Amino acid sequence: MSISIDNLLESIRREAEKHYSDDPSHDWLHAERVCKMCMRICEKEGGDPQVLVAAALLHDVGMRYELEQGIDHSEKSAEIAGEILSRIGFQSEKISMVLEAIREHRFRKGVKPVSIESRILQDADRLDAMGAIGVARTFSHGGRRGIPMYSSSRSTGSTVDHFYEKLLKLKNSLNTETARRIAEERHAFMEAFLSRFLKEIEGEA
Ligand SMILES: [Fe+2]
Ligand SMILES: [Fe+2]
Repeated sequence: MSISIDNLLESIRREAEKHYSDDPSHDWLHAERVCKMCMRICEKEGGDPQVLVAAALLHDVGMRYELEQGIDHSEKSAEIAGEILSRIGFQSEKISMVLEAIREHRFRKGVKPVSIESRILQDADRLDAMGAIGVARTFSHGGRRGIPMYSSSRSTGSTVDHFYEKLLKLKNSLNTETARRIAEERHAFMEAFLSRFLKEIEGEA
């Protein structure tokens, strides 16, 4: 039995929203944005929209366990997602596709996913770490952990360092042409933001 995208979204939200961390960099709103971006990429690149909606909305549902207990969140999210999808009666033959995409989404694993749904989810998640949203999430993440915005000496793990170590590299790590196109403007925005930010730090702008 197949259900509409809107009904699917609503039934997953009812089950999943409460599991999400209240950390603004990985909360339910992040999952919703990733879901919208997956749909946008899916229109051009293909893939199963139902699998993508389920994978996007559930991909970080286990993040709380990583933050609190150091458990790999992609594995934990897949575990919780499997329980939720069985409970809401999601097509059982598609559950393994959803869980594979969730397991493979994580940046640090350096995984090159194979299925189109895995490739799209990873791209959508990475795009949400770029652009204005990426800036907002990164400072929010740093603020919550007491990380300085920038440092006067080099390489002390400030939030600005995080842009150079990870965020500015994301555009070269994308799987699909559609995501690469969307990433261009987001990347340019981060560069413009950083150059302005560094000038203001020096009192030059
Ligand atoms: Fe994640
Ligand atoms: Fe994510």
